[in-house]
Amino acid sequence: MRLWIRAAAVRRRVLCLWLLLLGFALVTLALSDLLNRDQDQSHQNPSPPRRPLQRIPRPDLEIIVDSRDPALELGLNIAPLKSLQEDQLLFVPSTQGIKNPPKRKGSYKVILTGSNKDSTTPAPPTHGEVGKEVQTQLRDSEKKVELSDVQKFGFNEVISESISLHRRFPEVRHPECLGEQYSEALPSASVIICFHDEAWSTLLRTVHTVLDSAPKQYLQEILLVDDLSQHGHLKSVLSEYVSHLDGVRLIRSTKRLGVGGCRSLGAARAAGEVLVFVDSHCECQKGWLEPLLERIAQDRTRVVSPIMDVIDWQTFQYNATQWPVRGVFDWRLDFHWESYHHLPDKEQDSAVQPVSSPALGGGVVAMDRHFFHSVGAYDPGILLWGGEQIELSIRVWSCGGSMEVVPCSRVAHVGHHHLPYLLPDQEVLQRNKIRVADTWMDAFRKIFYRRDTLAHFIRQSESPNITERLRLKRSLGCRNFHWYLTTVYPQLYIPQDRPALSGELYNVGTSSCADLPRGHDLHGGVMVIAPCSGTGSQHCDLNSDSEVRFGPMGALCLDVDGERVVASPCAKQRPTSSRLQWKFIKLSGQLVHQQSQLCVEAVKEGGVTHSTHTSPAGLLLRPCTHQPRQQWHFEQLVAPKGA
Ligand SMILES: *[C@@H]1O[C@H](CO)[C@@H](O)[C@H](O)[C@H]1NC(C)=O
Ligand SMILES: *[C@@H]1O[C@H](CO)[C@@H](O)[C@H](O)[C@H]1NC(C)=O
Repeated sequence: MRLWIRAAAVRRRVLCLWLLLLGFALVTLALSDLLNRDQDQSHQNPSPPRRPLQRIPRPDLEIIVDSRDPALELGLNIAPLKSLQEDQLLFVPSTQGIKNPPKRKGSYKVILTGSNKDSTTPAPPTHGEVGKEVQTQLRDSEKKVELSDVQKFGFNEVISESISLHRRFPEVRHPECLGEQYSEALPSASVIICFHDEAWSTLLRTVHTVLDSAPKQYLQEILLVDDLSQHGHLKSVLSEYVSHLDGVRLIRSTKRLGVGGCRSLGAARAAGEVLVFVDSHCECQKGWLEPLLERIAQDRTRVVSPIMDVIDWQTFQYNATQWPVRGVFDWRLDFHWESYHHLPDKEQDSAVQPVSSPALGGGVVAMDRHFFHSVGAYDPGILLWGGEQIELSIRVWSCGGSMEVVPCSRVAHVGHHHLPYLLPDQEVLQRNKIRVADTWMDAFRKIFYRRDTLAHFIRQSESPNITERLRLKRSLGCRNFHWYLTTVYPQLYIPQDRPALSGELYNVGTSSCADLPRGHDLHGGVMVIAPCSGTGSQHCDLNSDSEVRFGPMGALCLDVDGERVVASPCAKQRPTSSRLQWKFIKLSGQLVHQQSQLCVEAVKEGGVTHSTHTSPAGLLLRPCTHQPRQQWHFEQLVAPKGA
């Protein structure tokens, strides 16, 4: 009897279980039906997206590129990341402090609507999305919002939010540009916009500015390439938004590629005859595209850039750049836009004539698609960010192409306060530069290593694998760096770096080094006495013209202003005026100014007091004595052997 009762109880329990399972199955069916109905509605509804969870209606709109795709042939060894394929990702809360960038691989939480107790129905994806996200997190204090915003994106996103996605600028082009005639049959362009955790408003303004300004007949497509963004607004909300824009496609990488890799990926998918790489926070002036396409149509080996104007990162005001300007780099392999007032005479008379440029910045750069591929795309060994535009510049010039700035084309770029995300380690930049130096600079690379000692020490312990790039260089028959320096960029001063006459200028009395405060690298300023950096940033070079060259460009010379030693642009004429000439007496360590026959003395803040006033700190000219504050030597940080 007892046994029977127990058996019956077991049977009843099994039955309950079955009923439960059946119920569950029915509920699941009903739910999936509901979801499907939502999908059908989305097909009929062309109005702005309201439900971020809808699937994308257009096939081929969004391609998730598994970077193992052999079609890409990027030479990258890549592990795919699953989480990107989950289009349900609604937003990614920044759980970590904003200062710490989110960890790279799969460290973000997936939060679906409804599963988050705090959030009600998600807001429609207006261009206020990012601001809202930030505001909900930090709604306590307005000030705090702005501050964290600047930290998150590197500019004032709250201001950017308040500005229309379709704003117009004042005309800044030269009047002669307005009358320019362009060919009727220009090549078609694919505009490639790579982004990584870009703010919503700046990214979308970049897309709309291209759509609004590029003539339809020349704009093949816009390819938005997501370089593994983590911010939630760049996931399904962006997919939704883009699905309503004609001619815009979204490609998502499954691996962090960096600027060069991301652009190469876009280029591999592009169909236009010309590739136009545009940073994800740009705004184009009317008529910017035609002059670029015209120059490329005339010569398919030309790589061109507009004049890059600046959008102020605090106010989002448009600041026009002074023409003429061209791109250059210094011996630390940092890029600069240089105002260029000594144009060759034949180019001087026209404000619409393109100007040949030794290098181009990465903001906006356009070139023929076939030429881009045949000249070696971007170096896949250059990671994340930094050095890629220098590498491209040297390679294009050395391997048969040319570069120029086209003045009738103007695009503005948000001048970041700082890089909106941190490099995983600070050595990435140096490793990139090492690749550039070892691949392209031949023996001249020593000059670079003396001015970037971190790169030197990294290079001592490891060698970059540049086998492929050297093979490319050989197969393209590229010219050497000496040719580049003499033909393309003769204005770059070639340091002599003689032993015992170059290095950090070390003062015995103060145990400090001669320095020029940051920000004066290009135009000069008052020399100071500062702790020795050891990085190569204080490198000096006393050359055979008796000039003491200072700074990464080698274009500044030690000069005097009254009793003060300053750095000012070196004279072009030879022989150098005696005001810029110095003599170093090795025995006494004295550095003598030729014209005045006075010695350089280091004076620290609040140092020597004279009868009536406190003497200013810095490098001062004084009657020569044998005190240690007038004793100097050139400290070589990098032994000239080896790399
Ligand atoms: C833009 O111009 C304004 C006014 O001339 C100036 O104050 C500001 O610093 C400029 N911003 C940049 C980024 O150059
Ligand atoms: C360098 O790269 C090439 C191809 O990219 C490869 O074949 C070679 O094994 C690599 N060399 C080293 C030392 O890793």
